[in-house]
Amino acid sequence: MAKLIIIAAIGKNNELGKNNKLIWHLKEDLTFFKNTTLNHKIVMGYNTFASLPKLLPHREHIVLTHQNLNIEGIKVFNDFDTLVKYLQNLDEDIYIIGGSSIYRLFLPLCDELLLTQIDAECPSADVYFPNFNPQDYEKTNLKDVEEEVSYHHVLLRRKK
Ligand SMILES: NC(=O)c1ccc[n+]([C@@H]2O[C@H](COP(=O)([O-])OP(=O)(O)OC[C@H]3O[C@@H](n4cnc5c(N)ncnc54)[C@H](OP(=O)(O)O)[C@@H]3O)[C@@H](O)[C@H]2O)c1
Repeated sequence: MAKLIIIAAIGKNNELGKNNKLIWHLKEDLTFFKNTTLNHKIVMGYNTFASLPKLLPHREHIVLTHQNLNIEGIKVFNDFDTLVKYLQNLDEDIYIIGGSSIYRLFLPLCDELLLTQIDAECPSADVYFPNFNPQDYEKTNLKDVEEEVSYHHVLLRRKK
């Protein structure tokens, strides 16, 4: 059975992005994202796909959009339920990489959230990670990092 894992970098108030871009550009976090998702399927909404400078190597891109897109090397789904059925028939770890609307759709289906919790705020952010109850999850601290801001890789596992 597929395991769907959310991976996201969020500010103190769940900030995710601004003007269809990331807010913070943290070198070690991008490496963490790359190493974690390498050789896996990555699921994203169209805005996140459009924000990528290029296709991410060695990862199968799956994009949810209402548009009739035909891009080589990309699997496109127009409907959330069809996408979920496709994913649930696989037997592998699959990463849900955003953005906000995709996290909101997938949050109830994901038992693991791999979060980069950034010790900073951005009042002008325009997209946010959906609200969730931390009490519903068991938290494992993975790594603390200090760059231009400090941040923490954590794994939240939904309590049974
Ligand atoms: N900090 C992080 O970890 C992180 C990670 C990823 C993204 N981000 C940021 O998040 C922002 C983008 O997030 P977002 O919420 O605006 O966009 P998004 O979730 O990436 O994409 C939204 C688009 O997905 C499609 N979509 C959503 N639900 C759908 C459904 N049920 N059926 C069919 N298509 C559906 C629609 O595309 P169409 O309009 O084409 O139909 C919708 O406009 C950017 O700022 C990005 O940098 C941050």
